[in-house]
Amino acid sequence: MKIGFLGTGHITSSVIEGIFKSKLKIKKIYISPRNRLISKKLSKKFKKVAISKNNQQLLDMSDWVFLAVIPKVGNRILKDLKFKKNHKVISFISTINLKNLKKYTKAKNISRVIPLPFIGIKKGPIIICPRDVRVRKFFDKLGKTIEINNEKISKNFWTTSSFMAPFYNLMMVTSNWLVQKGVNKKAAEDYTKELFMALCQDSIFKNKLSLKQLVSESQTPGGINAQALRELKKKKFYKIQQKVLNSIFKRF
Ligand SMILES: NC(=O)c1ccc[n+]([C@@H]2O[C@H](COP(=O)([O-])OP(=O)(O)OC[C@H]3O[C@@H](n4cnc5c(N)ncnc54)[C@H](OP(=O)(O)O)[C@@H]3O)[C@@H](O)[C@H]2O)c1
Repeated sequence: MKIGFLGTGHITSSVIEGIFKSKLKIKKIYISPRNRLISKKLSKKFKKVAISKNNQQLLDMSDWVFLAVIPKVGNRILKDLKFKKNHKVISFISTINLKNLKKYTKAKNISRVIPLPFIGIKKGPIIICPRDVRVRKFFDKLGKTIEINNEKISKNFWTTSSFMAPFYNLMMVTSNWLVQKGVNKKAAEDYTKELFMALCQDSIFKNKLSLKQLVSESQTPGGINAQALRELKKKKFYKIQQKVLNSIFKRF
């Protein structure tokens, strides 16, 4: 199969890194010349990656086309490109819905997919909307796929993906606090990363337990986890989290 990426930025870069770490059998990957630096780097690193002359040539050469430009650019350029009727179009674009993607591309077979940067190490959730067996089989090799048929519901996942930076910030505050208490920076960062990674891995390992059960299981009455949770709740830490999610949701 030959695939093409319209827009060679951060997410294209991560997806291509993931593809070459996976067992996916891809004959050729065409990428658009923009961004020049990233496209050059990718074509140098992977023999099967070729930089197209322009966006139309990329489409003409590919069986599957991945849309990976920002919404503003997508709204501007998609309608002037000629998609083939049998093109499989997979859009990563956050705010262009299926209706408009159909209008712009005239393609019959369109999916919206939400990959996240760790797709580059074949990790993380990948939302696919609507359900599509071939798309799922492709992304199953790159992370944990979750199929959603209702486009409106799938929008909620864009909102939750805004919690990557806040999550790392929580880790940073934890690590910095250790440093303030005299722990050296390397030990503080190593400890924090291992702690948070173990928590996430354990929650996957104990997949029969709900998150509510994990919250309860990880505290002993009168213990330090119970105290931390109680004080954070009292200070409305989690109410604020909900408010922030609602506010991000308004963007989609
Ligand atoms: N990053 C993520 O984690 C993530 C996750 C899921 C979905 N997405 C979605 O994926 C899309 C791309 O995100 P991104 O983070 O990869 O953005 P990005 O790094 O800014 O990449 C966008 C790319 O599009 C290129 N471009 C601009 N104008 C173009 C044109 N006319 N023709 C072809 N390419 C053009 C840009 O090149 P220049 O640098 O030369 O302008 C840039 O390389 C967005 O819609 C975003 O919502 C991103």
